[in-house]
Amino acid sequence: MSEYLPGLEGVPATQSNISDLDGTRGILTYRGYRIGDLARRSTFEETALLLLDGRLPTREELAAFDADLRRNRVVKYNIREIMKYLPATGHPMEMLQTAVASLGMFYPGDECLTGGDVCGDLNYVHNMSVKIIARMATLVAMWEHVRNGYDPIPPRKDLGYAENLLYMFNGEEPDPLLARIMDACLILHAEHTINASTFAALVAGSTLASPYLVIAAAIGTLAGPLHGGANQRVVEMLEEIGRPENVRAWLDGKLAKKAKIWGMGHREYKVKDPRATILQGMMRELMEQRGGSMGPLFETALALEEACEEKLAPKGVYPNVDFYSGILYKEMGIPPDQFTSIFAVARSAGWLAHWREQLKDNRIFRPTQVYTGESERDYVPIEQR
Ligand code: COA
Repeated sequence: MSEYLPGLEGVPATQSNISDLDGTRGILTYRGYRIGDLARRSTFEETALLLLDGRLPTREELAAFDADLRRNRVVKYNIREIMKYLPATGHPMEMLQTAVASLGMFYPGDECLTGGDVCGDLNYVHNMSVKIIARMATLVAMWEHVRNGYDPIPPRKDLGYAENLLYMFNGEEPDPLLARIMDACLILHAEHTINASTFAALVAGSTLASPYLVIAAAIGTLAGPLHGGANQRVVEMLEEIGRPENVRAWLDGKLAKKAKIWGMGHREYKVKDPRATILQGMMRELMEQRGGSMGPLFETALALEEACEEKLAPKGVYPNVDFYSGILYKEMGIPPDQFTSIFAVARSAGWLAHWREQLKDNRIFRPTQVYTGESERDYVPIEQR
């Protein structure tokens, strides 16, 4: 009998050359490039193309990809109509999964469902990737307005991806530092080896489902609080704590009840997640630009990290990417229940890179199980039970 490892810990589920992490040294690379270098020097558009194609693009290649993304930002009017019928109280990740799945009905993209070798057609795969990455931001921002009873703010072609995302949310061109921070956040969240949502995308992709359904499967998986949904919970948790001086008593109470501390811990990292360090640095930069005041949420987060270091570091539990991202998004005017949707916008690039890699040498995922049920037995008629 093969050994069952809960959560498939340490079990390689695929071979991939997209990203790599060293969980003991806290290093993450996309296609061999360190995440810190990309966050500082790249753009989300360039990083997305790097993930998809496997190499840094030339100026011309990047310009063509960027132009394609800008051209594909608009979504059909009927998608807005669908949104209008969704309850405003629904979670944005449920909306996003619905909207992305519905894109597949409005735009051609179900060729994979009918078989054939279209999935091996690189142009098809590239074009679908562009369409999805371009529209993710539009859908997320649209919902913010539709759920509040307003018409969405149409995307602008003259703005970069991150700028346009913030513009569609807030209706005004963002402060350049905030736009740069959003760009870096998108880069930092774009890819992360074979995490739960990427695995879900691979499983769906391996059945030759359409890319919209592949991304819808990944969105549903990202939504959970143990994965991308943690970023919303972190800010709610910090608001509940309120002030840095409340941290220790709050933490002791939670740990005594064996509760999770959101934004802490990671299956792969046994040190602080390098993305958390970069996000924390960006938060400081933003606060310095605003005259040095840290704000209660950030101060509380710093105090919580310090207190957790004493209590949780011995278990290898440190801040992960979700610990500081929400505080930054809040500064950008994004409501907490949309934080995970922003994560999904960024991660669509990584999901699609893995979808493409899966299709290159596809075999349907069909693992086995360790059966723990009854052995074969006779059916008992209902009157004899
Ligand atoms: N708060 C408190 N304790 C935590 C913890 C957290 N956030 N994360 C891990 N631990 C503890 C566990 O209780 C366990 O302790 P024990 O050995 O005494 O039972 C130990 O650390 C190992 O944790 P485990 O749950 O087995 O790790 P995992 O690899 O299965 O889970 C996560 C990884 C990410 C799901 C987990 O760390 C977690 O739930 N974190 C909070 C949610 C979160 O921020 N998710 C975003 C991830 S990017």
